[in-house]
Amino acid sequence: MHLLITGGCGFVGSRIAKWFLANGPASSGNASSGSFTPALQITLVDNLMRPGSQTNRAPLECLGAEVILGDLRHRDFVESLPACDWVIDCAANPSVLAGLGSSALCAPPSTPSQATQSPSQTLVDHNLGGTIHLLEYCKRHRAGMVLLSSSRVYSIRELSGIPHQIKNSVLEFDWDRIESENLIPGLSRQGIDERFSVEPPLSLYGATKLASEWLAKEYSSAFDFPLWINRCGILAGSGQFGKADQGIITYWMHRFLYRHPLRMLGFQGSGAQVRDCLHPEDLARLIHRQISASQGLQTQHPAQNHPSFRSKPITVNVSGGIESAFSLQELHEWCLRRWGSDRFGAACELQRIDQPRPYDAPWIVLDSNKARQTWDWEPLRDRLSIWEEIAEHAEENPNWLQISGGID
Ligand SMILES: NC(=O)c1ccc[n+]([C@@H]2O[C@H](COP(=O)([O-])OP(=O)(O)OC[C@H]3O[C@@H](n4cnc5c(N)ncnc54)[C@H](O)[C@@H]3O)[C@@H](O)[C@H]2O)c1
Repeated sequence: MHLLITGGCGFVGSRIAKWFLANGPASSGNASSGSFTPALQITLVDNLMRPGSQTNRAPLECLGAEVILGDLRHRDFVESLPACDWVIDCAANPSVLAGLGSSALCAPPSTPSQATQSPSQTLVDHNLGGTIHLLEYCKRHRAGMVLLSSSRVYSIRELSGIPHQIKNSVLEFDWDRIESENLIPGLSRQGIDERFSVEPPLSLYGATKLASEWLAKEYSSAFDFPLWINRCGILAGSGQFGKADQGIITYWMHRFLYRHPLRMLGFQGSGAQVRDCLHPEDLARLIHRQISASQGLQTQHPAQNHPSFRSKPITVNVSGGIESAFSLQELHEWCLRRWGSDRFGAACELQRIDQPRPYDAPWIVLDSNKARQTWDWEPLRDRLSIWEEIAEHAEENPNWLQISGGID
């Protein structure tokens, strides 16, 4: 089996690649039964535009992956890629602030027109343009696709409108009323499920993800190749590149440990905002199941009528769920307990600023029950083990934020 992982030198793409290299290819058996077919070929594609992604290249090559450098915005480049069985699309500029201005990541322009392009156009080209080229590729090679989408496809207005109070840096909800009156469809104390509104505004990032989802479904249906869409909440683990607007756990821990100033924005500067988290190895295990269930369908016509397709939802939320949920204040207190003493230097400056951040929301916790039931899957890594892994990486890599662009 040949996997092509785009964004393969990024945090999630590289961790998925390593998981498959360690555990073997998908087969009709499952990972725990050990019934793997022997051959696995992994090709990683990346333009290395994410600061830090270059550090993954050599180690992945040593593990046996082929790394092809190139930009998915270019149709000719994508057309030149070798045929594969499955594309796992992990390439994106994954920040909710991307495209708005200076925060947009930029690959070096390769044409004169790109040099003058606006950040919003650049973002759309990377996140949606790249996906379109990959869908054409899947159509041509009848390759299956696993698309990594995001919790940011859900409506910012609805997310911001979840009635809540903040008491002592803790968000409080009247869940009995929210649930009994079905106040916001798709919302319960278990989290946001797939029925939650996707009405814009979502952020430019969220909109490119939602548009990618729609086109992927259309291509899969029209051209008959298998597709799974995983809407992920926060993915976190060691080796994530930390910036204020993406990779928050890494960013916060590294800045805390090495005494760089920190800012809690919005929500009265309380740090009460809540997110969930999932380790990318748990995502890799799910993708393994998805590919195993549909491996070989590319050669069956029509693949969409195959029972394993009809019986399973294409789009699912994938997250650590409510058990993994934490507030920024809780993360900060955890850092204080681990690195708060003078032994690590004078306490770092923490500013609490009430001013809201664009597209921020108080509570983004995904209900991933559909994925759990459909795929008989559940995360194995809990929040504290993920935090511990990131903390150890922070202690061993004092320059990580310089490498990943997390120092202003
Ligand atoms: N990390 C998270 O918390 C999270 C949450 C939900 C969804 N996701 C999704 O998971 C995927 C991976 O995210 P990540 O955290 O690994 O981000 P990342 O920035 O670490 O990795 C993305 C990689 O894609 C590459 N890339 C971007 N545009 C490209 C292009 N046009 N051509 C070639 N390569 C390109 C970058 O250089 C980078 O290495 C993204 O699609 C993201 O939207 C991530």
